[in-house]
Amino acid sequence: MQRVLNIKTTKYLSKKVKVCGWVNSIRSHGKIIFIDLRDRSGLVQIVFAPNLELKIYELAQKLRPEWVIEVKGVVQKRPKGMENPKIKTGEIEIQAESLKVFSKAKTLPFPIDTLGYEINEEVRMKYRYLDLRRERMRKNLEVRQKVIQFMRDFLQKEGFIEVETPILTKSTPEGARDFIVPSRLQPGKFFALPQSPQQYKQLLQVAGIEKYFQIARAFRDEDPRADRQAEHTQLDIEMSFVSQEEILDLVEKLYISLVKKLFPEKKITKVPFLRMTYQEAMEKHKTDKPDLRKNKKDPNELAFCFITDFPMFEWKKGEKRWGAMHHPFTKPQTENISEIKKHPERILAYQYDFALNGYEIGGGSLRTTDLEILTAVFEVLGYKKSEIKKQFKHYFEAFSYGVPPHGGIAPGIDRFLAILLNEPNIREVIAFPKTGDNRDPMMDVPAEVTEEQLKELHIKIVKPKKK
Ligand code: AMO
Repeated sequence: MQRVLNIKTTKYLSKKVKVCGWVNSIRSHGKIIFIDLRDRSGLVQIVFAPNLELKIYELAQKLRPEWVIEVKGVVQKRPKGMENPKIKTGEIEIQAESLKVFSKAKTLPFPIDTLGYEINEEVRMKYRYLDLRRERMRKNLEVRQKVIQFMRDFLQKEGFIEVETPILTKSTPEGARDFIVPSRLQPGKFFALPQSPQQYKQLLQVAGIEKYFQIARAFRDEDPRADRQAEHTQLDIEMSFVSQEEILDLVEKLYISLVKKLFPEKKITKVPFLRMTYQEAMEKHKTDKPDLRKNKKDPNELAFCFITDFPMFEWKKGEKRWGAMHHPFTKPQTENISEIKKHPERILAYQYDFALNGYEIGGGSLRTTDLEILTAVFEVLGYKKSEIKKQFKHYFEAFSYGVPPHGGIAPGIDRFLAILLNEPNIREVIAFPKTGDNRDPMMDVPAEVTEEQLKELHIKIVKPKKK
């Protein structure tokens, strides 16, 4: 007999079905036992009557919340007045004829029938697989999947191809610290996890791919915040022979159609999205990610905007040096090399951010393909010529074999979802996120490794001095 999903049982009136799932709750009325059975589709009520075969009835009496069971029984209309409009199968119930227990369950460390915000974060993370049983989290994961699927379908129709790029790679300057991975076969050498697929997606333009995208994981060793995780997911896009306008138009079309299709209850404040320069944003709103909602209390309002013409460089006070406002591969709005070197503060870039309700939900730029300009940019950033040649040799070399003009953008998926779902923290839209101090209490990582592993990697741990 094939298993029927709880939600589908309503279609089997007067027929026998097999359902499987978790015991969500148990009530008894006299000798009748009522179970709400939960599966991925929702709840259905099961009735165990005392006239059942004794063995089955006695087993039903032993059931406890979260036991995993299978029930066979006949779907019947609930008696008049006993319907439950709160659940989708509330018109029917299943009169049990058999019961199988797959697994018993200990008492859960916290309730899962609440929203869960009230529960201590550490405990939620430690038992994330239980936390994910709650309806809100299941819904968030479902919405995440739908959004990503929509993005994939949309871009595929636009002629893009999704290409996977390596996780074990080389340090890319995106402004954060790298996570590094020691090499066993090349002792003393290290891979870096990508802060983004930036260099690969540009090299794919040299390869002639022209329209690349990837649902890509990016790794940055930064302190986590409500809108920041050590690993996040980007919709990474790169295109050849495009203008800034064409890139922004594509993103705009994608997000408008996505909201229309998947979130019809949401209202976009302004279509087409407002576009303003960095200077305008700073003067008018004192931020480069302004919240342009008309009513900031409305959870269904989405105020998208693009901020353009960022300065190429920013002065890093603490380090007393120039940094790239976006990243060094961004194209300056001038080709005058001596101006770039003499007056970095005056140079604007073909750089744009994508903002929503006060959050930066994407960033991108046109890229420099002129190697002299790129060298000048790196020099302003404090790199020596010899260092540039060494660290970006592959990149300079690739560009000497025929490089198309190109540019791209990378909207952050976690932040977008958190805003859509009105979640206070991107952790709520990620299946297995890290805590505020970048740990995973469930897996208990980061963790020590064995002496043998360290030996094999030629690594010695210098114990940090106690403060
Ligand atoms: P950028 O560094 O602006 O650009 O990142 C793109 C977008 O990714 C999201 N994001 C994050 N989300 C959660 N946690 C983080 N730690 C985090 N860091 C970034 C933001 C951000 O706007 N390679 C370039 C893109 C390009 O030039 O095409 C890049 O990664 O929403």
